[in-house]
Amino acid sequence: MQSQDSRMKPKYAIVFICIVALVIIEKESSIISRVSDKLIQRQTPQTPLDYNNTASNGSMSMFKMLLSKLIGAKGNFSDLSYFGRNGYRVGHKHILLLATTRTGSSFVGEFFNHHGDNMFYLFEPLWHIESMLAKNANSGTVLAGIYRDVLQGLFLCDFSFLEKFISPPPQDHITTDLFRRESSLSLCEEPVCSPVIKGVFERYHCKTRRCGPLNLTLATESCLSKQHHAIKTVRVHQLDTLQPLVEDPRMDVRVIQLVRDPRAVLASRMVAFSSKYQTWKTWAQDGRVPEDNEEVKRLKGNCDNIRMSAEVGLSQPGWLRNRYMLVRYEDIARYPIQKAEEMYRFTGIPFSPQAREWILRNTQATQEASGVYSTQKKSSEQAHKWRFKIPFTLAQVVQRVCGPTMKLFGYRFVDDKKTLINKSISLLEDKLFH
Ligand SMILES: *[C@@H]1O[C@H](CO)[C@@H](O)[C@H](O)[C@H]1NC(C)=O
Ligand SMILES: *[C@@H]1O[C@H](CO)[C@@H](O)[C@H](O)[C@H]1NC(C)=O
Ligand SMILES: *[C@@H]1O[C@H](CO)[C@@H](O)[C@H](O)[C@H]1NC(C)=O
Ligand SMILES: *[C@@H]1O[C@H](CO)[C@@H](O)[C@H](O)[C@H]1NC(C)=O
Ligand SMILES: *[C@@H]1O[C@H](CO)[C@@H](O)[C@H](O)[C@H]1NC(C)=O
Repeated sequence: MQSQDSRMKPKYAIVFICIVALVIIEKESSIISRVSDKLIQRQTPQTPLDYNNTASNGSMSMFKMLLSKLIGAKGNFSDLSYFGRNGYRVGHKHILLLATTRTGSSFVGEFFNHHGDNMFYLFEPLWHIESMLAKNANSGTVLAGIYRDVLQGLFLCDFSFLEKFISPPPQDHITTDLFRRESSLSLCEEPVCSPVIKGVFERYHCKTRRCGPLNLTLATESCLSKQHHAIKTVRVHQLDTLQPLVEDPRMDVRVIQLVRDPRAVLASRMVAFSSKYQTWKTWAQDGRVPEDNEEVKRLKGNCDNIRMSAEVGLSQPGWLRNRYMLVRYEDIARYPIQKAEEMYRFTGIPFSPQAREWILRNTQATQEASGVYSTQKKSSEQAHKWRFKIPFTLAQVVQRVCGPTMKLFGYRFVDDKKTLINKSISLLEDKLFH
């Protein structure tokens, strides 16, 4: 009965996507376009991508491509006899760290990455999907379904669906192009880290040691040998799109949604995604922000997505009961060990000495590491810095369009610049989320 159900799921997903596709095709002529491979700026990996340079194509043919990709790639996950027919293996956990850019998700991801030998951690695998498929307001539903299916495959240690989106395509499951491989300790340890072959592959991706290209078959084997699995992503925008994943009887999924003061997020994005946020920087200088601007609408859309996901989670629908936790970055910055303990308790995974040690080392560091993607920041101090970086006018804009989101998470509004930059006034309400 169980495996029957599991086999049916992908079919439902495809039928659903077809229906959505048809609805969209009715409305618009060009929905999904393919990104040329070279377009992606690997240096600024989390920058929202500019899809305008894409060669667009008829939506129908694009959907055919997409669907054939989807169906062709559909891992028959029930083939994995490794997973018991009567549900997930007892004590095996699947953690999804759900965030948006510049909320400290790389840092928090490390809490799990450093759990130890029994953890298989992946950093932003969905980057590949976003890179390959055009982003378009109307393609969101289709993308969300693909994101979910890729996550499902990865939690089951099946890389085949993800492989379809890696560019250039892996040969015999070998790739040199897995995004941020070095951010995953389990992909940098023996035997997944195979020796560099001189002259054949010049690229290697691990910090601690030189590794040859990634053999995804070995990655699968390593994944299957680990008890726990964690994936961090900034690309899932609506929590409810994940319901079929959370309900998959072969896994024990726990979702941790990480949020941060949207004013701080904007301040941070203006630095990290400098060219993309040029408009905001101009406004910062002018001191005036036009009403109804696209950028402002985008900010509002982001905030609304985050709030709606949190509302779904906090309302504790049956499918998410005891599987959802909301965490504010600011609380982690203030009490890293306590919050890490709480998160681990929530997941049901023991808090390991390795994870504790990593957190201690990286939150009490005296020197600030350089680089915008660095996770090594003196976290409590770092948490205030944005207040001096964002002009009051922009803080006001955020408060206007993200007001409900800020209220829900307990971020205090400021009425004047003096309050904004007065560090003895906390902008954080003490708040518990249950
Ligand atoms: C992308 O294309 C749209 C519509 O063609 C245009 O309005 C928008 O300004 C473009 N964005 C960028 C970043 O070029
Ligand atoms: C457009 O779609 C057709 C049919 O699927 C395909 O042959 C062609 O290569 C596509 N063009 C681009 C630019 O992707
Ligand atoms: C999927 O796996 C099941 C169980 O191993 C098998 O019976 C079935 O034929 C497979 N389906 C496809 C489409 O490969
Ligand atoms: C990748 O790993 C698998 C499993 O160990 C092995 O059978 C295969 O030969 C490896 N591929 C290469 C190219 O080394
Ligand atoms: C900052 O706020 C505190 C508490 O409200 C106040 O006592 C202090 O005078 C303020 N400092 C400045 C420079 O405004």
